[in-house]
Amino acid sequence: MTQTNAQGATPARYGPVAQLLHWSMFALIALQWLGGKVMGKLPKSGSLRGIAFDTHETLGLLLLLLVFVRISWRMAHPAPRIDGPRWQQAAARVAHLALYLLLIALPVAGYLSLSASGYDTAFFGWQIPAALEKDAALQQRLSGVHQVLAFALLAVVVLHVAAALWHHVVARDATLRRMLPVRRTGAATVPAET
Ligand code: HEM
Ligand code: HEM
Repeated sequence: MTQTNAQGATPARYGPVAQLLHWSMFALIALQWLGGKVMGKLPKSGSLRGIAFDTHETLGLLLLLLVFVRISWRMAHPAPRIDGPRWQQAAARVAHLALYLLLIALPVAGYLSLSASGYDTAFFGWQIPAALEKDAALQQRLSGVHQVLAFALLAVVVLHVAAALWHHVVARDATLRRMLPVRRTGAATVPAET
């Protein structure tokens, strides 16, 4: 069933809030990937390592908050109709659901992994207390889970981006444009305020 907005219409494009959340989270996730890979290699003696870990933890928890804001916004503001054959619509829905689930599970695993290593989590100036007792074996497992989830997110994002580019370059439809802040004239592309 197609979801509709308060006026009973399916919007033609994602609104400014949905777009802002999509692209700011994309930028934060890219930073998180870069930081996650680099921070463990920084020298233990310097202050840079601590700053990098604190930043990774802060941005990770910020992403966790943002995903809940985004899901709430999405529930109140329907997305544009997904075009194409049924299998493509189903694939897009499954991919979007997987992205939301990974964006919850990944930071939670990071937080639990850090907790099991005996550290509190930095969140801007605050320290969020550890949720678990220090446990080296559990920490190893949770760190592995965090890594696997980070790679799973990367894999789904690669498919997601490939699909978006395929729509734009091969199918030449409006799928990518409706997630971009561009205004086009014509009834089919009237922007919806979602
Ligand atoms: C969406 C958010 C997050 C993303 C995309 C992300 C991504 C990553 C990546 C790619 C790595 C490197 C893994 C490897 O070596 O292959 C990493 C490491 C790490 N992350 Fe995250 N992370 C996120 C959130 C968090 C949060 C919220 C915390 C803690 C509160 C955290 C704690 C850590 C720690 C301690 C490491 C280094 C040790 C380890 O691999 O367990 N991460 N992260
Ligand atoms: C970390 C990277 C990304 C994540 C986590 C992500 C996540 C998502 C999610 C969850 C949706 C579904 C929105 C809804 O609830 O309706 C979505 C839609 C969309 N994303 Fe991404 N995205 C990422 C990167 C990108 C990139 C780089 C592009 C473009 C090259 C892109 C293009 C799109 C488009 C066009 C849609 C709308 C799809 C449609 O209308 O069916 N995304 N994204």
